[in-house]
Amino acid sequence: MAERYWRLDGEDVCAVFTRTSGAPGLIYLGAPLDPAEDLDAIATASARGRHESQADAPPPLSLLPVGGTGFLGTPALEILADGRGVTLDPVLTDIRQDAGEIAFTLKDARTGAEIELTWCRASAGILVASASLRNGGDMPLTVARLASLALPLPGWVSHVTRYSGRWAGEMRSETLPIPRAALAHDSRGGRPGFGGGNWLLAHEADAGMEHGRILGLHLAWSGDHASLVEGDADGRGRVLLGCRLDIGEIVLAPGESFDVPEVHIGFSDRGRNGLRHAMTGHVRHAVLPGRADWPPRRVHLNSWEALGFDMDEAKLMRLADDAAAIGIERFVVDDGWFGSRRDDRTSLGDWTVSPDLFPDGLDPLIAHVEKLGMDFGLWVEPEMVSPDSDLYRAHPDWCIHKPGADRPTQRGQLVLDLMRAEVADHVLCALDALLSAHRIAYLKWDHNRDLFPRTLKGHAQTLALYALIDRLRAVHPAVEIESCASGGGRIDYAMLSRCHRVWASDNNDPIERLRINTGWGPFLPLEVTGNHVGPSPNPVTGRRTEMDFRAKVAMFGHMGVEADPAAMTEEERASLAAHLALYKAWRGVLHGGDSYALDLREPGLFGQIAVDGEKALAIVARTDFAADFNAERVRLCGLDPAAIYRVRLIEPWPPKARHYLPDRDRWRDGLLLSGAYLAREGLALPLVHPETAWLIGIEKQ
Ligand code: GLA
Repeated sequence: MAERYWRLDGEDVCAVFTRTSGAPGLIYLGAPLDPAEDLDAIATASARGRHESQADAPPPLSLLPVGGTGFLGTPALEILADGRGVTLDPVLTDIRQDAGEIAFTLKDARTGAEIELTWCRASAGILVASASLRNGGDMPLTVARLASLALPLPGWVSHVTRYSGRWAGEMRSETLPIPRAALAHDSRGGRPGFGGGNWLLAHEADAGMEHGRILGLHLAWSGDHASLVEGDADGRGRVLLGCRLDIGEIVLAPGESFDVPEVHIGFSDRGRNGLRHAMTGHVRHAVLPGRADWPPRRVHLNSWEALGFDMDEAKLMRLADDAAAIGIERFVVDDGWFGSRRDDRTSLGDWTVSPDLFPDGLDPLIAHVEKLGMDFGLWVEPEMVSPDSDLYRAHPDWCIHKPGADRPTQRGQLVLDLMRAEVADHVLCALDALLSAHRIAYLKWDHNRDLFPRTLKGHAQTLALYALIDRLRAVHPAVEIESCASGGGRIDYAMLSRCHRVWASDNNDPIERLRINTGWGPFLPLEVTGNHVGPSPNPVTGRRTEMDFRAKVAMFGHMGVEADPAAMTEEERASLAAHLALYKAWRGVLHGGDSYALDLREPGLFGQIAVDGEKALAIVARTDFAADFNAERVRLCGLDPAAIYRVRLIEPWPPKARHYLPDRDRWRDGLLLSGAYLAREGLALPLVHPETAWLIGIEKQ
């Protein structure tokens, strides 16, 4: 305990902690530091003196600020002892450090609360912080708040990029200076929700795609979060991230402990793309289950926007025929196959195949699908029950409810109480029976309502969900799972540690998807981001778009189709089939390489590149009509500046824009250009018309 400083060195990030009067402080977070750097000098160089309107000994911005100490911001820890509010005074009592982890133990003498704050090195530019609380006293302790991370923002952070959203409109980003107040973003629906408050970027004012310092912060938790960006009157910024608790939800008896979820902290001094590289690489190597052994991501056809509830064996077999004919590899039967579910008001919980739709069960359909060379996937929503279901009639008390009160529904459904062992066992048995009886390669695991009435069970329900998925995966490890919650309502790294992909949005309109996927881009690798070609007009926005545009946009993710090929024109089907073939040819690059956002400044222009060693594929898309015919040149990042590349515009070309392309033969054969030229000067492409997308294929010579 004699030391005053501790450093945690990652490959691309370093944190330096210091002893303060109470909890440890953070004096440095950023790029790797020279091992010889004098930490005491850094502490002095970064410290500010006291000013007039402060306590005589101002409390430092620590990793566990508490109230009532002269600290004027939002506390990271608030507890009630024996039901009454207390002022805490946690004192550092122990520090454990090994090469990759540092753990600080603090004790509060009055309540006996023992708090452990842990930071560890996870991937090249990623540190992971978490916390736990043990009741070492003799009174029950009620936890009102324990942040997983209370981060005093480094001085170079002047801005945050935060997210908001709604159903079919996830991840709308907004960049703001650190406010001189608190900017809270909590979720209260028992899941992260569409609002994206569990994701945050904190950065220098002018951090761009390729330059500048930036932090990415994410709470890996699938329940409610409490997130806060707070600036004080002196211009110092802080972030609090943790799970949001209802008072009374977590009450620790003497000897009991409570662990909060992890926060994943990414750092880059190479701008947003550097951070994206760090975060998505981390997801691949440290979050996803067995990512290194994944086979290529198969092209899905999902029945939802093709048939909706209007399904039966014959219709699905016909859809499967048409799917196979355009190159689909996995056939997914969405909602509507079970119980009496002919619309969304009934039968959740009755996970048995509907004999009306499938007189001989699912096997004939699965055999048909397999004969066509595809594997089979199925939609389920296991956490739910419809009041109009056999399950509910048999066990009306199995849903989360307030005894004697109304049971308010959302989408006509209620939430099962997974904390009850018999309920979780029942759901597990139902899913196990399905997976054991049929060759099912993939489950789309949906979750379509918020958690209410609140009965102090949000946190425990989330843990019960994890236990359920973990038990199912232990019995059926080969089955891939997608996390869907009416689209992107439950996307987080805790879910991703159990899943193979996420449904990024219910909105398949390519214009909206370009924006939504731009929001997910820094955090999710392309291979987990479900991205489908929907019908035209789009059922959510009503907008009509050309197949060429829809298909190109859907290639940059885990590609699928959510439309009926029989409802397309011959030309549209041919275009779709051509793009599915392109996706298969390039998915090794898209899913194995690093993906970067292209630095395009004009509104309405979106671009991305995936680079995998010798090969790269880029997309550049225009959503609206350009102000100038000479649209911005497309500069390609992520390439080796010294290498020469053959750069081709990959066909099929966008129907309207192709007429404005000069020297078509040369673009078809490929131009030989250096990585340096491509990064600095870029390509002049016909990007004038709305709903135009070009694919650029790049191969090292
Ligand atoms: C949710 C999902 C959709 C679809 C429907 C089925 O809304 O997000 O993709 O599966 O449920 O009811």
